[in-house]
Amino acid sequence: MKPFDVFPLFNINIVKGEGCYVYDDQGNKYLDLYGGHAVISVGHTHPYYVEKVTDQLNKIAFYSNSIINKLQQELAEKLAEQCGYPEYDLFLVNSGAEANENALKLASFHNGRKKILSFSKAFHGRTSATVIATDIPAYIAPINESDKVTFAPFNDIEFVKKELATKQYAAVLIEGIQGVAGIKMPDNNFMKELRQLCTDTGTVLILDEIQSGYGRSGKFFAHQYADIKADLITVAKGIGNGFPMSAVIISPMFKAVHGQLGTTFGGNHLACSAAIAVLDIMKKENLVENAHKVGDYLIKELKKLPQIKEIRGKGLMIGMEFEEPIKEIRSKLLFEEKIFTGVTGAHVIRLLPPLCLTIEQADYFLDKLKKVLS
Ligand SMILES: Cc1ncc(COP(=O)(O)O)c(C=O)c1O
Repeated sequence: MKPFDVFPLFNINIVKGEGCYVYDDQGNKYLDLYGGHAVISVGHTHPYYVEKVTDQLNKIAFYSNSIINKLQQELAEKLAEQCGYPEYDLFLVNSGAEANENALKLASFHNGRKKILSFSKAFHGRTSATVIATDIPAYIAPINESDKVTFAPFNDIEFVKKELATKQYAAVLIEGIQGVAGIKMPDNNFMKELRQLCTDTGTVLILDEIQSGYGRSGKFFAHQYADIKADLITVAKGIGNGFPMSAVIISPMFKAVHGQLGTTFGGNHLACSAAIAVLDIMKKENLVENAHKVGDYLIKELKKLPQIKEIRGKGLMIGMEFEEPIKEIRSKLLFEEKIFTGVTGAHVIRLLPPLCLTIEQADYFLDKLKKVLS
């Protein structure tokens, strides 16, 4: 047996990580500006994280959700303190798609409606309800085809207004910053009006903060730039710093009904210990502020480079769009300069580093990028 070939792979075997660096089995050291696809929040193998997870592993890794798990309570309290939603509840699951599936179910249970409003170029996952809300036709199998989703043009409030007026939509599902689309920012005014329209029409507003959340944008959630509150917020990636975990943060307007939602693995002891360690580190090391500071610096410096057509993003979620295809630039960064970056399509490089990236590391990248572009 061999792994199913679902992704094109670089011939690099990463065997070790430390902070913002990863190492391959040939002894090469790489600056990680990809964060394993926006997953590494507090840095690779942070000593406190390793200690907390190891400690928990030596006690108990898993027991079922049919008993009290005080770690879930501790996690909820610590998250409440940092995320700006103290009165909301927390439902823990295992992956981004699963969080969005559960959020969509909750919305539909709540108002009894069947349709979803999503946005052009959106990505929300690869499972049944999330993939139909994803605007990438190649990901949709015949079994998933459905007319339950409408894709609104991004930032087009008039389109949204007309659709929501039908009162057929259970939810609007929108990313805090569109990631897979190439780092596309929603306008603050659009978000404010969207919030109001959802309230006026009884539509649940779901903010998918799976990529843009957990401090990545320089605020705990990207939608907080628009100064709005969502009804449901989904998080994953950074929550466990690589431990597979996700969550739905749930407004008090939703009443829990036994049987509607459930999970075997979600919120297990080991996952909670990872997520608690992440929040402890984020608080102690001011990582949200750091993402803001280093991200602002990187964006300002990148904007000085005439070879880049457009720089988009907030904090440490940055898209660099080039006129020409970026394949060679990314390849040189990786194989010659030993710097990991992400991509979207043929023209956009994405930077999604750990939130502990320093100004010195940002400068190192800027030097190497200038070299590659010269
Ligand atoms: C915005 C967004 N939503 C959902 C997902 C799906 O997450 P997962 O791959 O953990 O199912 C992703 C993954 O990249 C994402 O970026």
